[in-house]
Amino acid sequence: MLQVELYRYNPEQDAAPHIRTLSVPEDFRRAMVLEVLEYLKREDPTLSFRRSCREGVCGSDGMNINGRNCLACVTRVSDVLDRRDCLKIRPLTGMPVIRDLVVDQSLFFEQYERVRPWLVNDEPTAGRERLQSPQEREQLDELYECILCGCCTSACPSWWWNPEKYLGPAALLQARRFLVDSRDRAGSERLAALEDPFSLFRCRSIGNCADVCPKGLNPMREIGRIRRDLLDEGT
Ligand code: SF4
Ligand code: SF4
Ligand code: FES
Repeated sequence: MLQVELYRYNPEQDAAPHIRTLSVPEDFRRAMVLEVLEYLKREDPTLSFRRSCREGVCGSDGMNINGRNCLACVTRVSDVLDRRDCLKIRPLTGMPVIRDLVVDQSLFFEQYERVRPWLVNDEPTAGRERLQSPQEREQLDELYECILCGCCTSACPSWWWNPEKYLGPAALLQARRFLVDSRDRAGSERLAALEDPFSLFRCRSIGNCADVCPKGLNPMREIGRIRRDLLDEGT
């Protein structure tokens, strides 16, 4: 049997969060962590967690597994078991827990909205979509793939310390995605909105964000590129 140490917290019943130690059959070694959770939920339907696509696309099952943020649906049990053959499953760090593995992501999505994640362009169109050259489209690679799972922001120490003021790696990656879009006309405004001491500059280049991103993206690098753009803008 494999051991699972599972974070449980129902604020309507529990005085405090607690860890439940459970067992699952050895066969789950080859399964994904999400399958372990589905199995445990069949045993105890009160267990709460988010999931939808089961394919690493929707971004809803970000959680902390053996100390590392990841998506449960694409994380194989055998890859993350510790030396005691134990899975430690916790909610994403740094976000308030609503119940069990479900965290409140309101602030995370407010920060996403703050970078205006849409095209700003009042120029009239010729009655069809705004076109890009293949080279212009390539500029969006390693940016548009973000699924807003929150794994990076939840792993960022700078965000833990200043969650209300520092936008965090996910929102800043999205800021960069619109800064480089050839169809957008708000580049200067977008940069000016990031120029205060906190929104962007609290990144300390620790790199946790790039380390945990399940899509292989690198928010730290993109934050550095925004800083460079700000410097270029000032010269
Ligand atoms: S590199 Fe910056 S954004 Fe990424 S985890 Fe570190 S402080 Fe946070
Ligand atoms: S950058 Fe990666 S870790 Fe961060 S929200 Fe997007 S997909 Fe998730
Ligand atoms: S269930 Fe959609 S990303 Fe895991």
